[in-house]
Amino acid sequence: MKEAVDLLIYNIKEIVTPIAPYPKKEKSMRDISIINNGAISIEDGKIYDISSNEKIRDLYKGESEIDLRNENIVLPGFVDPHTHLLFGGTREDEFLLRLEGINYLEIQKRGGGIIKTKNDTFSFPEKILIEDTKKRLNSGMSYGITTFELKSGYGLNIDKEIILLEIIKKLKEESKIKIIPTLLLHLLPENEEIDIFLNDLSDVLPYIIEKNLSHNIDIFIEKGAFDVETSDKILNKAKNLNFDISLHIDQFNDINGVDLAIKYDANSVSHIDLTKEEKLYILGKKNIVGIIFPIERLIFSREPKRGREIIDSGVPLSISTDFNPGTSPSLNFPLIISLSVIREGLTLEEAINASTINSAYALNLSDEIGSIEKGKRADLIIFELDSYKKIPYFVGMNFIKYVIINGEVMKVV
Ligand code: NIG
Ligand code: FE
Repeated sequence: MKEAVDLLIYNIKEIVTPIAPYPKKEKSMRDISIINNGAISIEDGKIYDISSNEKIRDLYKGESEIDLRNENIVLPGFVDPHTHLLFGGTREDEFLLRLEGINYLEIQKRGGGIIKTKNDTFSFPEKILIEDTKKRLNSGMSYGITTFELKSGYGLNIDKEIILLEIIKKLKEESKIKIIPTLLLHLLPENEEIDIFLNDLSDVLPYIIEKNLSHNIDIFIEKGAFDVETSDKILNKAKNLNFDISLHIDQFNDINGVDLAIKYDANSVSHIDLTKEEKLYILGKKNIVGIIFPIERLIFSREPKRGREIIDSGVPLSISTDFNPGTSPSLNFPLIISLSVIREGLTLEEAINASTINSAYALNLSDEIGSIEKGKRADLIIFELDSYKKIPYFVGMNFIKYVIINGEVMKVV
């Protein structure tokens, strides 16, 4: 008698997945497991078994079954460890101005950039903000993203950041897509003394933990944003409350933000466009994940092959959308895989590890998501392609046929 399971996916041309141990770094970033002609059984939202087609079909019968006729491939869902999905308005004028040579921080100084998005965000009714963010979540899912880290950051004072975190909590509760909320401190509040701000933070950080609004904190450490001294004080408070730390560093200027990541044992550092090799080496030793943004790097015409340098310095690399209205307005994850191999010098296998398990590791979730293994959440992508090598090859195209979240086949729009 065959055992009944909720869902059986069979005749899979290739099951492509990262393999333990995690995080992947150095040579192990190239390790990927490929099962040809495989099958997966799913029960209770989890991967129940995974093996050859013959074996799985002998053992199980699915309440629902998907026959891929040995034509299509399955990967774990993409994990996006860095997004700013919750905002109002757009910034296409700045995008064009930057292409004419006016730089990002200059636009911010003139009251554009993050400040414009803050104003736009709070000019929208909450209902619209929620609807728009849900549309973005669904759009990301149609590109294979099954987990989103989602930052606040357009409040620019602590009360407004709490409002944003409360909205993110609602989205998290209502969404089948997995959401990990993060408190992001983007810029110091205008017209407020630093000491008052720090005092308020001391009251608010425990509240954020207590109300389960977020267990993660991020700071934009940059000229014109947070300096190292203030960030140090904030991180000290956050670390004492057991916040997980991720930081925006070395995007436009290297002001030694990386030293705080090392000091406070951050989970991840993002951008690291300008981080020096000797510091990358320390990040690698400490298993601090480095997150880069191939689309943002393309938009800013950064030098190619940065991803390669970061991996070769021993850092476990992750790739992400950094979706936001300023620097990176795209959720096209297959394009990110293409750009990683075309511009960032990654092998395809490195790009797959960087978009799944290393991102899960950056979110402290590598036991739960990021690979296709027994007991993990059944978050899967079915590509209408017969080889994983065709994912980067079809640049900018989307061959995703089904996305499965927590064992449920989702409607891909
Ligand atoms: O990751 N640079 C800081 N934060 C975002 C941009 C936010 C914005 O411009 O709205 C980033 O690039
Ligand atoms: Fe960002």
